[in-house]
Amino acid sequence: MTHAPTPPSKLLLRALAGETLPVPPIWMMRQAGRYLPEYRATRAQAGDFLSLCYNPDLAAEVTLQPIRRYGFDASILFADILLVPQALGLDLWFVTGEGPRLSPITEKGGVAALKPADAIHEHLAPVYETVRILARELPSETTLIGFAGAPWTVATYMIAGRGTPDQAPAHTLKEENRPEFEALIDRITEATIEYLSAQVKAGAEVVKLFDSWAGSLRDDDLDRYSIAPMARITAELKARHPGLPVIAFPRGAGERFVDAARAIGADCIALDDGVSPEWAAEHVQPIACVQGNLASRHMVTGGQELIDETRRIRDAFSGGPHVFNLGHGITPDADPENVALMIETLRETR
Ligand code: CP3
Repeated sequence: MTHAPTPPSKLLLRALAGETLPVPPIWMMRQAGRYLPEYRATRAQAGDFLSLCYNPDLAAEVTLQPIRRYGFDASILFADILLVPQALGLDLWFVTGEGPRLSPITEKGGVAALKPADAIHEHLAPVYETVRILARELPSETTLIGFAGAPWTVATYMIAGRGTPDQAPAHTLKEENRPEFEALIDRITEATIEYLSAQVKAGAEVVKLFDSWAGSLRDDDLDRYSIAPMARITAELKARHPGLPVIAFPRGAGERFVDAARAIGADCIALDDGVSPEWAAEHVQPIACVQGNLASRHMVTGGQELIDETRRIRDAFSGGPHVFNLGHGITPDADPENVALMIETLRETR
């Protein structure tokens, strides 16, 4: 899909194009999720989480639910970062109350046994159909965000076969069999380019890369295995889809959010709440639009602290392009009323 050369009118696209807006656009990571009763009802209708991901009508429905309830400026496709490893040939299932499980790549014949990157599309076709439905049904002011996991984060699950607190199995493979580890990063990188490009062709207007475990990579490793693959994906997507805005989220990068902003080439850097908005306004926002970074716990605790922190973040970033969001996904124990309070506070006239 080619993008119109005329200036964008949707708020999210304007912020990503570098415009400083009086009220920043807002959306929320995991905005379709278990804190919403309507999400839980649709998931029950689908049977389980993965069936929901692969049912285009129901996946589109849960994507639209938070838009109807709150009027967010952006909508993020309902899917999961682990659908790509599944499309590459690993088994994937979710254990209720625990999280994802995959057949670890080391027990599946390694990278050589994975499917080639361009063989993922048949498996992922339902996701592209969800995007097409959303492109038709979203309100005209709402931007549709597609996404994928960044290669390092996806690799940590493919290597360990599950979520790990410190990503130790992935670090071990990196140290003990670097060629195999790098081949895996390359395969995921290529598959991610294919996957996101197909999302854009189906109607995604922006794409976001989630590197949720970037914070466990140190020094050169952060450059080589988080920043460099995201830079390669960003460059290739922008070559294929001129004007496509990209958001990169190297979660836990700390001071190195600055290098990430310089080197990835993304239009926007998503910040977690491990950095202060004042620091990020000074060091990251001059390089790229920033997204974030209210701590998710405020969606549970609410009250005056939520109001104060929302205003603090809005004010700290008011001198440049900013997309308001949480520092990480909203949690299942969040109170839907607190989400409404955050939005109301953000949009209040100063
Ligand atoms: O943000 C959105 O609303 C879009 C959809 C989305 C989901 N997962 C849906 C989901 C997105 C963007 C993701 C990204 C994702 N998935 C990441 C990166 C972002 C992050 O949170 O750090 C990761 C690491 C995953 C892998 C994953 N999926 C895990 C570890 C889990 C289990 C933990 C949990 O919250 O249950 C999931 C499940 C998952 N993905 C749920 C949702 C709504 C909950 C599933 C359910 O309904 O039971």
